[in-house]
Amino acid sequence: MTDTITIPRPDDWHLHLRDGAMLQGILPETSRHFGRAIIMPNLVPPVVTRADATAYRDRIMAALPTDHSFTPLMTLYLTEDTDPSDLAAAHASGLVTAAKLYPAGATTNSASGVRDFDKIQPVLEKMAEIGMPMCVHGEVTDADIDIFDREAVFIDRVLDPLRRKVPDLKVVMEHITTSQGVEYAASAPGKLAATITTHHLIINRNHILVGGIKPHYYCLPVAKREDHRLALVKAATSGNGSYFLGTDSAPHIDPLKENACGCAGVFSATNTMSCLAEVFEQADALAQLANFASRNGPAFYGLPVSDDTMTLTKGEPVNMPDKIATGDGAVTVFDPGFALHWHVTG
Ligand code: NCD
Ligand code: ZN
Repeated sequence: MTDTITIPRPDDWHLHLRDGAMLQGILPETSRHFGRAIIMPNLVPPVVTRADATAYRDRIMAALPTDHSFTPLMTLYLTEDTDPSDLAAAHASGLVTAAKLYPAGATTNSASGVRDFDKIQPVLEKMAEIGMPMCVHGEVTDADIDIFDREAVFIDRVLDPLRRKVPDLKVVMEHITTSQGVEYAASAPGKLAATITTHHLIINRNHILVGGIKPHYYCLPVAKREDHRLALVKAATSGNGSYFLGTDSAPHIDPLKENACGCAGVFSATNTMSCLAEVFEQADALAQLANFASRNGPAFYGLPVSDDTMTLTKGEPVNMPDKIATGDGAVTVFDPGFALHWHVTG
């Protein structure tokens, strides 16, 4: 039986680091384990220009523990006013890796997102020309579309038409939650891919709603039925280059989660690698963990795989903290609902 596994140092291709005291408190939870992460730009106000991204990257680097080595891969938040030349300059300088498309109102801090997708066509054409990937939050926001259908409807009504208009654009479907997402993401290798979160590999919608409402399992896109979770596990553990890890670790202080109108977001940075090792072991696919967490992401983004390594060792249950204290308040760590036996040991 395998009880040690060594993989190239993993990266997180979808991460929320926030700002200020929260950034200070939670950044080490990621930089302890991950070499790089795609940093989501949904601050308030959002990171929309090259100057915003420069300043945010500097704040992240200033918050980094001196003994951690971590590279934030910055993103710009696309708005209907994004200037294609500012975006291209930010990409050419190496500052910014990708741009993020939020449909307006789709999720936390997305009010400045895009309402009319035709308005960003020139920006998307510029991105296709310079090889800059677009990361997309793939949910429609129409009030008449059921929240559990919003991802599948987005693929048909928005994403597929958009990709036909700009066929050379590289697209990452962020945090897919459905079998339709799994299927569509694999339909154009090298041009299209998807990130999958740790928590969507572990919970389905029953975990949120059965036996009392569990605000710490509420995130967007919301977890779906069990058959969708099984499709996500099959995709992640297949080793297929169309799928890679994006934790979507998204901290909110407990009072904002445990609230009559609680925020969306699951915080999983602290225990993601232990959770994933457990999921991959249960699927008899530990050998594919390196592809999912360390190789497929850099391959899609055209970056080198880390030459550093991470070792996980199986043993007694890991003593994970329930919460991470920050200067803004406590943040609850994702509870997978089962014991974790895989320790990050190197
Ligand atoms: C994210 C957040 O809190 O910023 N929340 C979430 O539920 N995933 C935003 C996002 O990625 O949709
Ligand atoms: Zn996110």
